[in-house]
Amino acid sequence: MAAISEAERERLLEAINNQRRPTVTVLSSLLAAQDELGYVPDEAIEEVAALNDTTINEVWGVASFYTNFRFTPPGKHSVEVCWGPTCHLKGASRILRRLMDQLGLDDEGETADGSISFKFNTCLGACSVAPVMSVNHRLSGRLTPEAACERVADLTDASH
Ligand code: FES
Repeated sequence: MAAISEAERERLLEAINNQRRPTVTVLSSLLAAQDELGYVPDEAIEEVAALNDTTINEVWGVASFYTNFRFTPPGKHSVEVCWGPTCHLKGASRILRRLMDQLGLDDEGETADGSISFKFNTCLGACSVAPVMSVNHRLSGRLTPEAACERVADLTDASH
């Protein structure tokens, strides 16, 4: 994978060296790195090991244990669809199917052009307006499959 840029390295170092936590650990440092860059690049593993005076293997052990860490850069846009119980009852599975067809995906992940990161969510906290999706962290509720597809089509139109 391509190395991170010098600017990204500076952001990474600042994020892990200036953690506002009473106790700095490998886990807190990995979280700080991912919060800052959106993922944990190889360089973060090395820097977190150095900061915590431990080995790269130890840091990998922690990072790979938690499924919330990602090791590749996220897409430019994020799309999350809730498939929690309320959304499920209100038709989330039809929305999911249509969106995954539109994005050419058969699971969570990045579109082939890397522009969109697609995720399932177990509750976006807006059950009263289910079914719900989040596009670039903005929620839309009472969705139909057509409205969901339109929101995502707007993203791909805007990127070109
Ligand atoms: S179950 Fe979908 S927002 Fe809560």
